[in-house]
Formats: sequence, C-alpha cells, structure tokens
Amino acid sequence: MSPIVVSGGQPLRGTIEVSGSKNACLPILAATLLNEQPVTVHNVPLLHDVRVIGEVLTSLGAQGNGAGRQHSVTIDAGAVSSTAPPYELVNKMRASFLVLGPLLARFGEASVPLPGGCAIGARPVGEHLRAMEALGAEVSQEAGLIVARAPELTGTDIYLDIASVGATENAIMAATLAKGTTTIHNSAEEPEVVDLCHFLTRCGVEIEGTGTKSVTVHGQSRISAAIEYTVIPDRIEAGTYLLALVGTGGGGRVERAEPEHLEALLLKLRDLGVVVRTGPDWVSVEAPAALQPTRVRTEIYPGFPTDLQPQMTVVLTAAHGISKVDETIFEQRLTFVPELMRMGANVTVGGTTAIIEGTPGSLTGAPVEAHDLRSAAALVIAGLMAEGETHIDGLKHLRRGYDKLPEKFAALGGNVAYVNAAVV
Ligand code: EPU
Repeated sequence: MSPIVVSGGQPLRGTIEVSGSKNACLPILAATLLNEQPVTVHNVPLLHDVRVIGEVLTSLGAQGNGAGRQHSVTIDAGAVSSTAPPYELVNKMRASFLVLGPLLARFGEASVPLPGGCAIGARPVGEHLRAMEALGAEVSQEAGLIVARAPELTGTDIYLDIASVGATENAIMAATLAKGTTTIHNSAEEPEVVDLCHFLTRCGVEIEGTGTKSVTVHGQSRISAAIEYTVIPDRIEAGTYLLALVGTGGGGRVERAEPEHLEALLLKLRDLGVVVRTGPDWVSVEAPAALQPTRVRTEIYPGFPTDLQPQMTVVLTAAHGISKVDETIFEQRLTFVPELMRMGANVTVGGTTAIIEGTPGSLTGAPVEAHDLRSAAALVIAGLMAEGETHIDGLKHLRRGYDKLPEKFAALGGNVAYVNAAVV
C-alpha cells in the first residue's frame, strides 16, 4: 500500500501557483495526431494521465516522449503508422478515447478499445459514436473495440443529446478534416473545450462559436502547421487549493489562475461568507470566523463543476448548520462519503443528494480509502481540516491530477506526505 499521510488541524496560509490544466492538455495532445508537423505544447502538467496520453501517441508511431515528465513537450505525429492504441493504455485512462476522432479524420479508420465505466459512474460513449456516424463513419463494436471507418468524413449538423465534454472534443477534432462545414449543436462550453478550439485555430483550422453551445468547424484537407501552444491553468486544481484554504479556516492566494473559469465556485465561497478577491490571474480567499451552510448543485459549465463537488462537500462539514449537495453529472461521485464519515462527518446520502450537518472542528484523523482522483483530493482536504493524522490509500488516483501536491501544500504550511511513492 502507498498511502498519503496528512497531518491536520492547522489553518493553511500562503501562496501557490496553479499548473497547466490536465483536462485541457489531454485533448490537445490527442489533437496533435491531426497535424503533420511537430507541435510544441507548453504549461503541460507533470501528471500520470498526461504520461499515459503521451504513451498512447508514441504507441501509434508519434515521436516525442516528454509528456508528463516536462512542462514543454514536442510531439511529431508526421509519421504515425497505427490507428489502434493498445488496450493496456486505454484501460489506464478513459481520456485515451479522445484519439478516436483525430485518427478517424486523418487516416480514415480507428480501432479504440471501449474505455468502460469507472469509480465515478458508467460513463458511456454513445454521444461520441453518434457524432462520428453523423460525419459519415461506419461504427461497429468488435471484441471490445470500437471500430470506426470512413474513407472521407463529410461536414454536417451534429446534435448532441448530452453536452458531453469528451464527445464535443472528439466531434470538433474529427470535423477539422471533414469535407465541408460541421456545426455541433449543444456543444459543451467548458474552458477545456475552448482551449482545444484555440489550439486548433492556431493550427490553422477555422472555427466559429468557440465557447458557445453551437460550434462550427470548417473542415480542411490537411493540417500541417509547426506551432507552439500554451495550455490554460487548471481550474479544478485552483479550486481544490482555494477550498483547502477555506476549509482549514485560513486564507491565501492562488496564482496563475483564471478567475473567469472559477466563477461558480467563487460565488459559492461568497455564500459561505468567504472574502474573495480576484486579479487578472489570481484569486485570494480569507475564511470567515464561521462558515455559513449552503446548497450546491453540480451542473455543466458555467455551473458548479462536478470535479469540485467532493472537495466542497468536505468543506461544508465545517459550516455552522445544514448544507445540501446535489450531484447531477456522475451518479457515483458521493460514494466517498462513508470514508468522510469515518473521520467524524455527519452526512446522509440519498441517491445523488447529500445532506451535511456541519459542525466546525468535527473531523478527526482516520485511515480512509479514495477510489478516484477528486475524492482523493477531498480526503486530503479533510485530513488537513482534521485534528490528528489521516492515512489515505489512493496515491495512484491523486497523482493522476495534482502536480507537486505535497510541495504546494507545504508552501501553505500543510503537511501532506507520499509514503512509498516510488512503488506506485
Ligand atoms: N455521457 C453520456 N454519454 C456519452 C458521453 C457522456 O451519457 O456519450 C454522460 C456521462 O456519463 C456523464 C455526463 O454525460 O454523466 C458528462 O460526461 P462528459 O462526457 O461531459 O465527461 P467526460 O468528457 O468523460 C470530462 C472530464 C471529467 C469531468 C467531466 C465533466 C476530461 C478528460 N475529463 O469527462 O474530469 O468530470 O468532463 O466535467 O476532460 C476529472 O478530471 O476528475 C474528471 C473526471
């Protein structure tokens, strides 16, 4: 076992810098498959998931192996020779499925293992497949693989039934090399989708409606542009540290953040009584003497992000009174609550709703287990809020999405240690 050991009970104070966005970086690295020229991506976070997408690209014949190990990565997909990423890699990370659109568009075929469900929910890919079919692909499922074929994709109107982030990204990427114009209706508007559009625009693709519910992509016959691109800051990482500062009753500043991407969280923090200040690329928070309870409902962007729900739920255990949290995106994202209750929290879960009876200082250190990335981050915050020591089994999850987490918490006066880190 490789636990995370957290010593808590002290207010966090100080300043940290946010890393590049994991969920922007993953589709952008997948999109390098569309480009015949080398592409350099900056502000790449040093994360396990980024390493996996890098391995997926090299398994297909792309050159460049720094993804997840250095902050600037050059990928040359000029000589890609395979359209079938191996199961072992796709199985490690669902976002590997984002190579489907680029491979199909550039090579006329792709065989990508079905990513399957995960600890936060079933996570089907039907919307991705419907988008590929709308563009003219024949899609079938053979022995656990999604096989998509189309000698040529043709621009069209795509209506997504669900504003899925990944399906929007796959559809946009596939449409870049389709014949004619594609409009994706009910597109996801998340900042990470916008960042992908900005990357593709830099590659020479004409895109209208970036950041709206209707994105139009003008297809072209090839993409061949040696460009450099800098990934946006990670809004979920920024939000996680802001919630840790507030939950421990402290205060501080998160720099290299994009306040506009954090609006739903900042509004909720103000509801809690937190003093929030923002600048062009920073956010500061100061916890009040007594946190107020509130209601939180996760929604697609610009609503409250599901990726910050577990961390917010933990903070609400320290509010004075009863809060309610509704999780509307992933049906199993409250399954970490029993672990939080082992630390003394008073929470009742019914379906996808949690009722939290907050009491300041109610958490105490305990051994707990995390089953996914964001619940691991939430339990770290719980550990920092709690008196005593918390041992969290779940380092492999945390490493997927938080760059230099022990160092960043140390800069805030927090004590989070990775034990046996080398064996993970
Ligand atoms: N959905 C379908 N059918 C589909 C696609 C999605 O029913 O074909 C459903 C999902 O089951 C879910 C909802 O639609 O209930 C939203 O899923 P979406 O496709 O938008 O999520 P995703 O693209 O798989 C990305 C992030 C997640 C983040 C969600 C929601 C990446 C790599 N992942 O996932 O991030 O929670 O959007 O914002 O961008 C994380 O970082 O911890 C994480 C899980």
